[in-house]
Amino acid sequence: MTILITGGAGYIGTHTCVELLLAGIHVVVVDNLANASREALSRVESITGKDVDFVYGDVRDKKMLQQVFRDHAVQSVIHFAGHKAVGESTERPLMYYDNNVGGTLSLLEVMMAEGVKNMVFSSSATVYGDPRTVPIREDFPLMPYNPYGKTKRVVEMVLEDVHAADPTWNIALLRYFNPVGAHESGLIGEDPRGIPNNLTPYITQVAVGKLEKLAVFGNDYPTPDGTGVRDYIHVKDLAKGHVKAIEKLQGKPGFFACNLGTGQGYSVLEVLAAFEKACQRPIPYEVKARRPGDIAMCYADTTFARDFLDWEAGFGIEEMAAHAWNWQKQNPGGYGAQ
Ligand code: NAD
Ligand code: WQD
Repeated sequence: MTILITGGAGYIGTHTCVELLLAGIHVVVVDNLANASREALSRVESITGKDVDFVYGDVRDKKMLQQVFRDHAVQSVIHFAGHKAVGESTERPLMYYDNNVGGTLSLLEVMMAEGVKNMVFSSSATVYGDPRTVPIREDFPLMPYNPYGKTKRVVEMVLEDVHAADPTWNIALLRYFNPVGAHESGLIGEDPRGIPNNLTPYITQVAVGKLEKLAVFGNDYPTPDGTGVRDYIHVKDLAKGHVKAIEKLQGKPGFFACNLGTGQGYSVLEVLAAFEKACQRPIPYEVKARRPGDIAMCYADTTFARDFLDWEAGFGIEEMAAHAWNWQKQNPGGYGAQ
């Protein structure tokens, strides 16, 4: 079985390639390296001892995609490729719609022409917007409020319509909560360009001395300690969720949406404490104003993932912190230092 992984050189993509390869599934990666490095895939090969077919290209290039489908017996697609920075999406919405929505349309057109009808799509908890209650179930209202989140929701709707028009398609929308951590080898991990937007890479860069101190965005939320609460999920667990989804698609389930989270919320200060323990050093921080667009609490109801996908997260916050730190200290300059 060959799976096409778009965006497979990125953070979640590389970890998913590892789990697929270890499950005996062959992968071909298409990535334009807009936010990734070729080195990451060499590391995937080192971890697994298996080859990754890599095609440098953009998913909006239909000719290239068509060739990939013709060169490889692609059975299913996992579609990670896209832009993911919420703040940037508010400044450059067209770039986000073009890449995230346009890229998916291009991919779907080629899949349709080539008769490949199995797709796992990287969606996000951001499609729920600011939920009225937590934990969040898959049937909650979908009200994304930033352009990035809207691109994810638009793609979800496109996929729903593709399935409605031709029910022989099998489509999994996986809604990730907050992916963190790294492979325990320390060979692959998150390598953000510039100053990280997200909490845990910021923390590890403070710990390694690249950044001075963490700004905690608000301590006046209606949460136990006043800081924002999120459902952090180890990227390896998330990757295994994709293997489960791919297996599920073989049984022709039609269309479904599934949360991938742990079901457990941690506050910014709790995450900070876990990282201080993992890094064995204090991590300086300062409480600042709330970040515009942030919500108080977000964590998953994981019932559907457990019952339908037969998947549950295994790692806790300590391992997420330990593995993220292991990656950061082994690769203080990310992949670029190689
Ligand atoms: P990432 O940026 O590390 O990976 C995305 C990959 O896609 C990169 O390797 C990039 O080079 C590639 N890419 C971007 N545009 C492309 C294009 N037009 N053609 C080919 N390749 C292209 O991000 P990630 O964290 O691994 O996220 C993967 C997916 O999961 C994204 O769709 C993201 O929106 C979604 N997601 C991520 C998170 C998160 O917090 N990391 C949460 C929810 C959903
Ligand atoms: C987590 C918590 C911040 C940075 C984002 C996207 C979401 C999804 C995952 C893609 C919040 C606080 C953060 C910092 C802080 N991505 N924080 N200081 O915002 O929950 O989710 O990534 O789909 O769509 O919105 O993640 O890591 O940015 O923030 O205090 O320097 O940490 O306020 O409470 P977020 P995050």
